[in-house]
Amino acid sequence: AFLPMSVSAQYSYDLQGHRGTRGLMPENTIPAMTKALDLGVTTLELDLAITKDGQVILSHEPFMNPLICLDSEGNHIASGDHSFNIYQLTYQEILAYDCGSKFHPGYPQQVKFFATKPLLEDVFAVAEKYASDMGLPQPRYNIEIKSSPDGDGIYHPEVPEFSDKVVKLIAEKLGWERVNIQSFDFRVLQYIHENHPEVPLAMLVENAATYQEDLKELGFVPDIFSPHFRNLNAEIIAFFHHKGMKVIPWTVNNTEEMNKLLDLGVDGIITDYPNLAPKR
Ligand code: G3P
Ligand code: CA
Repeated sequence: AFLPMSVSAQYSYDLQGHRGTRGLMPENTIPAMTKALDLGVTTLELDLAITKDGQVILSHEPFMNPLICLDSEGNHIASGDHSFNIYQLTYQEILAYDCGSKFHPGYPQQVKFFATKPLLEDVFAVAEKYASDMGLPQPRYNIEIKSSPDGDGIYHPEVPEFSDKVVKLIAEKLGWERVNIQSFDFRVLQYIHENHPEVPLAMLVENAATYQEDLKELGFVPDIFSPHFRNLNAEIIAFFHHKGMKVIPWTVNNTEEMNKLLDLGVDGIITDYPNLAPKR
């Protein structure tokens, strides 16, 4: 039998592959997800956008990022040119863009090849089958709805439409046992909390230090607190644990920092480099 490169359950914490494995593969692509599974992650972290024809796809930006993608003729996109707006393009049109071949100076170890932005449902289908074929545990998914008040109706649908579409798709394809939704946009979290209370939710924040104001502004207790790791400390972690929440910081890209955070008591780590995660 063909043995997987590594078996999972080697981590006692929730190891989350950021955008799949951004450090090693083009971000938010199917190969980034299968690579993360090879490395034994518990959870696949990914970002969502909506196309003109209403398809749910993986993308960190709501446009074709010039840093990452080449246009349909294989040319570079002028920096700052946001005319390649995903919400104004059909999925068929988006398939012409190559978001895998361009060298990314921030992630020089990325393997380079032609890669398109995938549909969320295709990511589910491939990852579920891959894990099962390789004898790995079925993965969890940490799914980010990327929206902002400035982008409403321009870069993405309004919050209720965006949220309902994503919730419906996940409910149909996977259910909620292994999935949570995350967002920096508190309107999304509040809307889903009100209208789909069965959905596990993670609040994303840039700064862990303002946790009390942020939780107050959110107005309810979600399942996960997910801050940038910078200002996180034992007191903040204890505060959220006391509320019955998990604490899962992003984006932690070296082993020493990961160990420090795990010693502080975080429940998981989101990283571009699951290959650097300590076995503990
Ligand atoms: O899930 C947390 C992390 O992904 C948030 O930052 O900008 O990479 O989506 P970003
Ligand atoms: Ca994200």
